[in-house]
Amino acid sequence: MKLLLAMLAVLSGAAFGAERGRDLFETGATPGRDVVATLRGDAVEIPARLMACANCHGVHAEGRTEAGVSAPPLTGNLPLDVLERVVRDGIGKDGKPLHPAMPSYRFTRDEIADLHAHLLRLNGHSPANGVTPDEIRIGLATGPDTRLSSAVERVIRAAFEDVNAHGGIFRRKILLVSGPRHADLKGATLASVASLANDWNASDQPVIGPLSAAAEGSNVFTLLPAETEQWSSLCRYLARDARNSVQVLPEDQQRFIGSVPACRALLRETGAAKTILFAGREADLERVIRANPGRQIAALHIAVARTVSRLPEEARNRLLIACPALPADQADPAAIDAAAAGSPEFPALRAMALGAARVLIEALKRAGRDLTQDRLQAALETLNGFETGLIPPVTFGPGTRSGVRGAYLVRAAADRFILLSSWMTAEE
Ligand code: HEC
Repeated sequence: MKLLLAMLAVLSGAAFGAERGRDLFETGATPGRDVVATLRGDAVEIPARLMACANCHGVHAEGRTEAGVSAPPLTGNLPLDVLERVVRDGIGKDGKPLHPAMPSYRFTRDEIADLHAHLLRLNGHSPANGVTPDEIRIGLATGPDTRLSSAVERVIRAAFEDVNAHGGIFRRKILLVSGPRHADLKGATLASVASLANDWNASDQPVIGPLSAAAEGSNVFTLLPAETEQWSSLCRYLARDARNSVQVLPEDQQRFIGSVPACRALLRETGAAKTILFAGREADLERVIRANPGRQIAALHIAVARTVSRLPEEARNRLLIACPALPADQADPAAIDAAAAGSPEFPALRAMALGAARVLIEALKRAGRDLTQDRLQAALETLNGFETGLIPPVTFGPGTRSGVRGAYLVRAAADRFILLSSWMTAEE
């Protein structure tokens, strides 16, 4: 753990530099020592704290005019050496002495490098967190379960290695950095993918495809449909047959399911409905199936996953299942197996993780060469029906963070799922 944190500190050097540079720029303070500044032609030394750059140039380096003296906006991408001469010696970028109102500071080269990093970031030239000229660092917050996380990690690593073997993205290699929580990865990485830790709120960077259904936040790009959306798709599928009607079991779930318009339209208060929407606990599934011979039982995959393989054939055939992702045997199995490196565990989770990695890779390509978190976020928002081959088509937008709204409808055979429909969206 110590080693990991030390490594993260090294990785995030660039970001911390820009942070220190911001302090310098805004307050003139350098921790641990006092720096002095001089106004040229003036022997008097003034603490730099009283002459913060932002006082004259503005907090956003937007430039300012006071008492007839103009401190220009600092927008250009000044090379570090030029900035050093400006700040230390009062020599401008054209090689001439600057107006005496611009002070000279006894900052070290490192401090000026920090200022430089801050100015670059202010101007959107930022080598964003986790991005260098030849690398993009992506985080995987692994959570506490090491079996789960190592399966997921292998898949994502393989996906990145594949991209890297083909020249990377704008010549940058993608590097996976893992740590138990988002809080450990923040600052060292551009974004997180397929995270298994649920402190996603600790992160203000994009989190793509957290493997937890409950995740939400303006930076969280979810790839799992909500339960209501899956029910909606299921009922829209049932409504294709005009004779269909439904009844909800257990009855105390009727209000919840009835809140989904597509389901409410099919609800039958009395008499035998053709289909039972089973919204109960998995332990009760077999009993409900037995108690309702000859009727179709519809349920979400999450409520039947553990039981379905041991149901007798007759019961299995009456079961209609809504799946939030492609059943593993329908999704690009070669890709998942190649990435699994011999591990047969958690096929659905691995498919989700690989899907999330493919979404990220696509967005990185769209974000362009000048990669920042904002550009990555904007690129994610351009995905519209994007196909990964593993998870349903993905659509985000400004303000739309749930990328997959719907379900696949399947029936269970003895050893696999049979796809009944293509992706069924939750709404029209
Ligand atoms: C007391 C006001 C003041 C403060 C404080 C100040 N500047 Fe300036 N700065 C100026 C003025 C005025 C100019 C314009 C000089 C000129 O045009 O010759 C200037 C010019 C510059 C330039 C442009 C040089 C060029 O060649 O065009 C840079 C870069 C700059 N300042 C950076 C800084 C940084 C970094 C700090 C803080 C470490 C800082 N300034 C603090 C007043 C200030």
